[in-house]
Amino acid sequence: MSGLPSGGPPRLTPDPRPPLFMLYRLYQPEDFPALYAVEELCFDPPWRFSRSYMRKIVRNPRSATWIAEDGADLVGLVVIQWSAGQEDLAAYIETIEVHPAWRGRGIGSELLRRAEKSARAAGACAIGLHVRVENATAIRLYESHGYTCRGREEYYYARQPAFLYAKLLKP
Ligand SMILES: CC(C)(COP(=O)(O)OP(=O)(O)OC[C@H]1O[C@@H](n2cnc3c(N)ncnc32)[C@H](O)[C@@H]1OP(=O)(O)O)[C@@H](O)C(=O)NCCC(=O)NCCS
Repeated sequence: MSGLPSGGPPRLTPDPRPPLFMLYRLYQPEDFPALYAVEELCFDPPWRFSRSYMRKIVRNPRSATWIAEDGADLVGLVVIQWSAGQEDLAAYIETIEVHPAWRGRGIGSELLRRAEKSARAAGACAIGLHVRVENATAIRLYESHGYTCRGREEYYYARQPAFLYAKLLKP
């Protein structure tokens, strides 16, 4: 028995999208305009970070910013920070965002894996993040990567409720 349905093998529908050759690398200061352009595409005010806040977090020496690049275009980013303490070091995902035209193709997942790798390398034992309660897409991304909901804050983003998610990192 081949296990195939009667009538022969299923027809494969060609994927119209070009193959995904994505470069993942750490942020460089000259990336800032392109990075902030993605922020502007992904978030409307009041959810959008200001330029100055974004500059501050990507310059933090206790942070890592990974970007996804398709040729010359920056199409996604993640910023993760960690605290200064030595014991019970925790990391925090400030933002993860993928250009709308590139979503649903695994880029967010790969950026999340890279952020976790940086947090582990910095000695973090856990990662936390906030996500707006109605952001089902991001919640699915986090849950599929082992993050669990640890609480809800009623007035987090622009006085809107957010869930707190966290994941313990294995050494
Ligand atoms: C959240 C975000 C970063 C995900 O990026 P992405 O590249 O599309 O993610 P992936 O392709 O790696 O998908 C990862 C998971 O997310 C979920 N997901 C992705 N696209 C989805 C969609 N359109 N609908 C529902 N779930 C979706 C799925 O669980 C998916 O896992 P699967 O591939 O096993 O189904 C992207 O949607 C985004 O930039 N959103 C706007 C910014 C934002 O809200 N960031 C989060 C702030 S807390």
